[in-house]
Amino acid sequence: MEKLFENKIFLAPMADVTDFAFRSIAKEFGADVTITEMVSAKALVYGSQKTLELLRVAENESPVGAQLFGHEPKFFEEALASPVFDRFDFIDINMGCPAPKIVKNGDGSALMKNVHLAQEIVRACKRAFKKPVSVKMRLGFDENNAVMFAKAMEEAGADAITVHGRTREMMYSGEADYEAIAEVVRAVKIPVIANGDVVDRDSLNEILKTGASSVMVGRGALGRPWIFAELKNKKIKINKLEIIKKHINLLKKYYKNEFLAKYMKKHILWYLKNEKDSTEIKKKISFAKTLEETMDILENYFKNI
Ligand SMILES: Cc1cc2nc3c(=O)[nH]c(=O)nc-3n(C[C@H](O)[C@H](O)[C@H](O)COP(=O)(O)O)c2cc1C
Repeated sequence: MEKLFENKIFLAPMADVTDFAFRSIAKEFGADVTITEMVSAKALVYGSQKTLELLRVAENESPVGAQLFGHEPKFFEEALASPVFDRFDFIDINMGCPAPKIVKNGDGSALMKNVHLAQEIVRACKRAFKKPVSVKMRLGFDENNAVMFAKAMEEAGADAITVHGRTREMMYSGEADYEAIAEVVRAVKIPVIANGDVVDRDSLNEILKTGASSVMVGRGALGRPWIFAELKNKKIKINKLEIIKKHINLLKKYYKNEFLAKYMKKHILWYLKNEKDSTEIKKKISFAKTLEETMDILENYFKNI
C-alpha cells in the first residue's frame, strides 16, 4: 500500500554505527531509505538529551525513519507527540534486538514472545503518529513464529514489516533463512522488507526471490557505504580517504575531537578492510590517541599506496 516501502534498498538501523553522517554518505551512494539507530521511547519522554541527539538527521536524508524501542505503549505514544518526529516520514518499532540488556527489560526481540503487548505498541504508535508505522522483527524468539507474529502486526495496523531471517536465539550466527521470510511475504498483504546477509548483487538476487517488496542492508554496509551503488550496478569512483574525511567532518559540527578519536576507530578499521598492506596501519590507528594523529596516519598511508 505504501510506496515508501516498495522497491527500495534500506540502510539498516545499527546502534552506535549508523550515525547521521554515515547515513548521509550511504544516501549519496544510493541507499533509498535510511533509519536512525534505535532510540528509547522512555528516555525521550524523560527528556534525555543524549537520546534526542540520536534523532539528528542529515539534510539529504529523505525519506527517513526513526526507530523506537521499549515495551510500554504509553511511552511510545507520549514520545511521538513531540514535534521532533515531524521531520520523519515513518517510524519503525524495534522488535528484533537480541542484546541481553534490551531483552531483559522486555524490549526488542522479547516482544516476539508477547504478541498482545506488541500489538498494543503498534496501536499506540498509530494513534500518536499520523504517518506510516513499521515493525522490525526477527523470525521469532527461540522458535519461528514469524507468520503468526507478522499477521498480528498487520492486524494491529502496521504499514510494513522488516523481517530479519534469524531467530533471537541465533543472534547473528548461521545464515538468514530466506524461505522463512518468503512465508511471511505470502502471509501478509502489507509490504515486507527482507533483511539478512545481503553483501553483494548475488545475495541481493537471492533475497529478492522471497518476493519481498524491499530489501535492507546492515553489516554489508560497514566500512562500505558505497555498497548501495554496487547493488544498483552503478559505476562509481571510490576515494576512501575522502569518504573518511567527510564522515568525520560532518560529525565534527556536533562532537568534540576527543570523542571522535575514539568513536571513529571502528569505522576507520572497517573502511580499511581488504586494503592491501594495511595490517601495520590498522595497528597504528588502534593505538592513536588523537584525531589528528589518526588523520596523519591515514594521509600517509593513502599517499603511499
Ligand atoms: C552493530 C549492530 C547494531 C545494530 N543495531 C540495531 C538497531 O539499533 N536496531 C535494529 O532494529 N537492528 C539493529 N541491528 C540489526 C540490523 O539492523 C540487521 O537487522 C542485522 O544486522 C541483519 O542484517 P545484515 O545481515 O544485513 O547485517 C544491529 C546490527 C548490528 C551488527
